[in-house]
Amino acid sequence: MRIRNVKNAKEILENSKVIVKDVNNCKDNLHILFGNDNPIHLEIGMGKGDFLLAMSKMYPDINFIGIERYDSIVCRACVKLEGVSNVKILVMDARNILDVIGKEIDTLYLNFSDPWPKKRQIKRRLTSSNFLSLYDSIFTGKPHIIMKTDNKDLFAYSLTSLSEYGYTLKNVSLDLEHSDIVSPRTEYQMKFKDKEYINYLEAVKEK
Ligand SMILES: C[S@@+](CC[C@H](N)C(=O)[O-])C[C@H]1O[C@@H](n2cnc3c(N)ncnc32)[C@H](O)[C@@H]1O
Repeated sequence: MRIRNVKNAKEILENSKVIVKDVNNCKDNLHILFGNDNPIHLEIGMGKGDFLLAMSKMYPDINFIGIERYDSIVCRACVKLEGVSNVKILVMDARNILDVIGKEIDTLYLNFSDPWPKKRQIKRRLTSSNFLSLYDSIFTGKPHIIMKTDNKDLFAYSLTSLSEYGYTLKNVSLDLEHSDIVSPRTEYQMKFKDKEYINYLEAVKEK
């Protein structure tokens, strides 16, 4: 466990009702976590949870799942999200997504994903073909990805990677903060919105 600098971290994680304790029993049964059949949206790399908290309030008839691999970060998120009925957190590496999630997701959000700038790290980018091929197996209908980032290189890479993989791009913005697109700010966005342009895209693939 990687818990740092969080007071009572162990108790927070153990007592949290937002964190799914047994991720290995979720596949094809995610709706049971919420007790309804509402559509499920997923954020990979949810960080400290501000985006999911805002989205859960804006869209009470959508269920949201956040994936985050570090429990030190999850700890901060679950304090904010405790008691929110339409959000659950899976503490895991997204590389193992197919062990946990079946064809159950309507929309996938990738917000300020780690850029992994070196050539040898390309496979770790959440918009690499490695990950895109995993995502093929999680969508209920047409694959639908929404991404935002301040990292120009990751954005350029993702535009190409998604297009080459068969996605159609729409609502592409090179300056989200001054566009009409509605997307609640994440923690990273708050940090970088005055220093960098925020890039945004939506991508849909015919099955
Ligand atoms: C740069 S932070 C952005 C956090 C948040 N989305 C935001 O915009 O403020 C990227 C987050 O993605 C998580 N992450 C990166 N790769 C991941 C993976 N393969 N599986 C799960 N989480 C991952 C990291 O731990 C980190 O919390």
